[in-house]
Amino acid sequence: MFTFAVASLALATGSYAVAVAPRATCSDGTVVSNAQCCSFIPIRDALIDDIFEGTCGENAHSTVRIAFHDAIGFSRAGGKGNGADGSMIAFSDTELAFAANAGIDEIVGDLQPFADAHGISYGDVIHFGSSVALSLCPGAPVVQTFVGRKNATIAAPDGTVPDPFNPVTQILARMADAGFSSDEVVALLASHSIAAQDEIEPEIQRSPFDSTPDQFDSQVFLEVMLRGTSFPGDGAHQGEVESPLAGEFRLQSDASFARDSRTACTWQSFALNQALMAQRFGTAMGKLNLLGQNKANLVDCTEIIPKAAPVKNTKAFFPASQKLANIEQACATQAFPNTLSTQAGATTSVARVPAQ
Ligand code: HEM
Repeated sequence: MFTFAVASLALATGSYAVAVAPRATCSDGTVVSNAQCCSFIPIRDALIDDIFEGTCGENAHSTVRIAFHDAIGFSRAGGKGNGADGSMIAFSDTELAFAANAGIDEIVGDLQPFADAHGISYGDVIHFGSSVALSLCPGAPVVQTFVGRKNATIAAPDGTVPDPFNPVTQILARMADAGFSSDEVVALLASHSIAAQDEIEPEIQRSPFDSTPDQFDSQVFLEVMLRGTSFPGDGAHQGEVESPLAGEFRLQSDASFARDSRTACTWQSFALNQALMAQRFGTAMGKLNLLGQNKANLVDCTEIIPKAAPVKNTKAFFPASQKLANIEQACATQAFPNTLSTQAGATTSVARVPAQ
């Protein structure tokens, strides 16, 4: 039941006519620009309570990841899926068999019955869901959020999701085919600030990519720049460089982006500026959630996305025992400044993200 605060108002001043958008007051008192957003308020709250359990934990992280894997099925060159359309769920039999989607099955298992129970499309549960997930992560921006996606009609083909062992050139080419510049790719990788791995090293599941996986902060950009230690032995992982922090997992692709001349300066700028990182990520994420969609057919419900709490540390810090000299600086045009402090203590050991 909605009551309309102002149904429609047109003011004629001279030769100008100014239309004021209709606003609706939802049953909980929230005023929205489009009455359709009212029905997403209880869905938002149920996502927070039932799927995310009120925290920036494993399920919130996985929902941000599935948003990427779903949307990136889009190709400007054509012929590759329909983008941010929920095909990852609608065609899960096909897409979950792709190697790059390993581990996505768990969140599909949570979001599919949730969408069915609440009568929303799979595209909306994923992409509205990722904005709601981010709102639980201190420091995350409010991402412009649309609803009203129709269900996917075809599966994305294999090969659209980048692999962490792909070279930077290959990942940038794939992302450019979906419409993203190299700076936007680095901005999207701020998502790895709230991330952990399960599938690359299954024996150390839920090992995070930075020391603060419950905060959407710039620690990941700083910590991936730290000089690592070479993986011992001569097996499949020979030549990889690991994080110097016990318990932290470093993706090879993240390490390469931090050191590649095309991306290193943007990477460094985010390590040094949390607000810039959050703002650029928010813009790129809004674009990702709309890949393959026509905005004119959707409804903007950004105003019902809660604002995340402020980040715990507004500036990145060196984990205990790390310092400026440990930075492997690759940006040729700007030296890494001596402005960040080091955490007290002897060493930093990074705890795993609790299972949900
Ligand atoms: C562009 C190159 C990218 C590569 C190669 C990559 C690769 C990976 C890999 C291998 C994992 C670990 C999966 C596992 O073992 O469970 C991961 C996790 C994650 N990725 Fe990415 N990723 C990329 C970009 C992105 C983007 C653009 C986003 C979102 C905007 C994203 C969001 C996440 C999140 C949130 C996780 C953590 C999931 C969890 O903890 O459950 N990634 N990524």
